[in-house]
Amino acid sequence: MRPALGGRGDVASVHGAWHASHASRPHGPTDHIPFDEPRCVPVGSASVRLVSSVSSPVPDVSGPWQDAARGAALLDADGRGRPTIFAEMSALSLATGAVNLGQGFPDYAGPQEVLDAAVAAIRAGRNQYPPGRGVPELLDAIAEHHDRFYGIALDPKTDVLVTAGATEGLAAIFLALVRPGDEVVCFEPYYDAYGADIARAGGVQVNVPLRWRPATLTDAATFVLDPADLRAACSERTRMIVVNTPHNPTGTISRDSTLELIAELARAHNAIVVSDEVYEHLMFGVPHHPMAWFAPERTLTLGSGGKTFSVTGWKCGWITGPAELIDAVIGMKQWLTYVNGAPFQPAIATGLRLPDAVYTRGADELRDRRDLLCSALSEVGFEVALPDAGYFVIADAAPLGAVDGDAFCRGLPERCGVVAIPVTAFCAPGRDDLATLVRFAYCKSDDTLAEAARRLRTLTR
Ligand SMILES: Cc1ncc(COP(=O)(O)O)c(C=O)c1O
Repeated sequence: MRPALGGRGDVASVHGAWHASHASRPHGPTDHIPFDEPRCVPVGSASVRLVSSVSSPVPDVSGPWQDAARGAALLDADGRGRPTIFAEMSALSLATGAVNLGQGFPDYAGPQEVLDAAVAAIRAGRNQYPPGRGVPELLDAIAEHHDRFYGIALDPKTDVLVTAGATEGLAAIFLALVRPGDEVVCFEPYYDAYGADIARAGGVQVNVPLRWRPATLTDAATFVLDPADLRAACSERTRMIVVNTPHNPTGTISRDSTLELIAELARAHNAIVVSDEVYEHLMFGVPHHPMAWFAPERTLTLGSGGKTFSVTGWKCGWITGPAELIDAVIGMKQWLTYVNGAPFQPAIATGLRLPDAVYTRGADELRDRRDLLCSALSEVGFEVALPDAGYFVIADAAPLGAVDGDAFCRGLPERCGVVAIPVTAFCAPGRDDLATLVRFAYCKSDDTLAEAARRLRTLTR
């Protein structure tokens, strides 16, 4: 039930009612949808007018969104949705003034050429619906990029699709190609959208564990895959195998032997491979090996202009792969957004054509940020798995006395003014072996990281 709000213009009572109804329970009835924003009824007459003073039945809000929420482990037993841990932690960061190392967005600017190109495109009037697959110069630039970096030849007219970020690309792929009951193999921990999208499509997610391997005398801490687990997860029911290299949240990259095994298993079961490669250019001294080298005939690869050029809010990504698979995905994507980001598309095309030095500089600067945060974490006593790529580092908080990463992260803003995310948020329930691990984002300015490091150093057991 919605709280009984006051009548028109009764702003004070609106706020009173909101607080009364929400303060006592973490997920009130107006939190049915897991918005990524702190929830509130804004001050102002518009929102007040929307609330009828006439008593009428509450609309039934049950629906397919609950499948998505269930897939993301965000559905309560009574069918109500919870906000994501990212939304909760960002709200906590706002409320406490904690440095937000939870969400993975840079707080620094991307290459000036890319920003200028977007402004120029807006001024030049490129503000109307672009073509369904994407503007020709971006399609061409993506094809050139794949040839330049990986030697992969794509036909920009048939093998490329521009999407509203990789997020929409993932949704379009799963909704287009996963049929009810199909199994989709994922590596766990996994990017949270996979679970929501697969469940919404009616698929069955089959998780292959990536296991934490603590440091030994000779080797640093890291995550490892047992190939036997991957073989065991695949069967004639497998419709898709989802690989994410470089991987969020672990920062590991898939070895060639893993990519070869994925290709072998996908061929054996005639499965499609979905390869999420949004961090392909954020590599620290190791080359990126695309999945499409190993199974080009059945791989759909996702890229992200937002990640590559530090403009995550632009939501401009792409899918590349065989024409028939791309056509199937377009059959779904055109009913999701149809098209997106007209002026951002030529800007991302500009970015993709920038010299190698720009890519290298971006990755080198990010590596310095990684090193700054990782040394602070190690100094304080966390066991750190130094990432090879991407935005995030995973650290074990057990040496600091943590037994539950979720509780540890919820208490961290209060204890030292920093926000992090428990790794179990990237897992289905039951991964107790990862219970004390937490994820920190280092895609932050030097000032932000220096302040976070200062605060972390005040942490005591
Ligand atoms: C592994 C992974 N895939 C996809 C995305 C979404 O990318 P985009 O911002 O282009 O939608 C993210 C963003 O955090 C990610 O970490």
